[in-house]
Amino acid sequence: MVSGRASKIKPSQTLAIDAKAKAMKAKGFDIVNFGVGEPDFDTPENIKEAALKALKEGFTKYTAVGGIDQLKDAIIEKFKKDNNLHYMRDEIIVSCGAKHSLYNIAQALFDPGDEVLIPSPYWVSYPDQVLLNDAIPIFVKTYETDSFMVKPEAIESHITKKTKALILNSPSNPTGLTYNKKSLEKIAEVILKYNLYVISDEIYEKLTYDGFKHVSIASLDNEIKNKTIVVNGLSKAYAMTGWRIGYTAGQKGIIKAMTNIQSQSTSNPTSIAQKAAIEALEGPQDFIHIMLSEFDKRRRFLVSELNAIPGMSCITPTGAFYAFPNTSKLYGKSFDNQKISSSSDLALYLLEEAKVALVHGGAFGDDNYIRLSYATSIDEIKKGVDRIREAVSKLK
Ligand SMILES: Cc1ncc(COP(=O)(O)O)c(C=O)c1O
Repeated sequence: MVSGRASKIKPSQTLAIDAKAKAMKAKGFDIVNFGVGEPDFDTPENIKEAALKALKEGFTKYTAVGGIDQLKDAIIEKFKKDNNLHYMRDEIIVSCGAKHSLYNIAQALFDPGDEVLIPSPYWVSYPDQVLLNDAIPIFVKTYETDSFMVKPEAIESHITKKTKALILNSPSNPTGLTYNKKSLEKIAEVILKYNLYVISDEIYEKLTYDGFKHVSIASLDNEIKNKTIVVNGLSKAYAMTGWRIGYTAGQKGIIKAMTNIQSQSTSNPTSIAQKAAIEALEGPQDFIHIMLSEFDKRRRFLVSELNAIPGMSCITPTGAFYAFPNTSKLYGKSFDNQKISSSSDLALYLLEEAKVALVHGGAFGDDNYIRLSYATSIDEIKKGVDRIREAVSKLK
């Protein structure tokens, strides 16, 4: 009944697990939810006020498809201030969340049969968005021993005549890795040598730890800037996941194609959310620091607790809000005739036995791991890891 394209993809597994945990909670189960990919903080008051003001002033009609000029200017300023990147209005488009930005890029850039390099583990939506556009995801495996950073030579060995682009995500979901300038320079060399594009997903830019400062690959020099399409958004930094504002910066021709596509699909992002986004970008930024210092405390606590569980080991993430422990030593063990052979077996066991929701690494392309979001209170984290420890101790 449905198209070949639609039947090639699966629903977002992270959203599915979150929905399952919420449904169990609604049935009265006391679930600790490590599955969520959104800050547990509320959107700051000044941002909500800006939306209310827009609403009261009747700013409730269609806007320009790619976002209003005032918001584009705020985004241009942000790129200048944070990344030393200089764009014009026609090099910016605002979409309905960064996921939508990425989808528009895939539509604008990929032809059937194009190959798109995706370092693995990867964020769940990249492969399916590539498939939805009849292009081919090519996975480039990364290793915990390299802090999950993709090696330039590994990129190079996967390049064929059909390779069109590399999708880079720093800070990364699910691993929490952050690329430094030196490693980005080496990746940029390969991109330029083979005349590829980089789609740089920088949605977790503001969430870095241990003094690490995010670097955008586009900021290295003008040559790589021309080949980079930068994606960012307000969801994570300003606790605005429900507002659906993401944005893209890149070559004029690509932005124009994306705007045409958006004009025939969603039209503009919500008018009042755009006004709120201006306040988020131009207003006080102290909220981010408060949230970040809380995430940092949770990160340290969670990682040290996970490392204390026999059979688990977890490298310290330097960005985003996820821990990605290696759980492969638990595979082959059983509880009550229930054998754990994979990350999804383990995730299911922990949900049923410990009432803890988390995402199996298989959803991100690596079965040796599970992903826990620490965008939840320290008390919940404590309760959750205690339960995990107990459930894991029952595995023989
Ligand atoms: C790596 C990555 N990119 C993009 C997004 C999409 O963000 P948005 O809510 O702005 O669509 C997410 C959300 O989980 C993400 O983790």
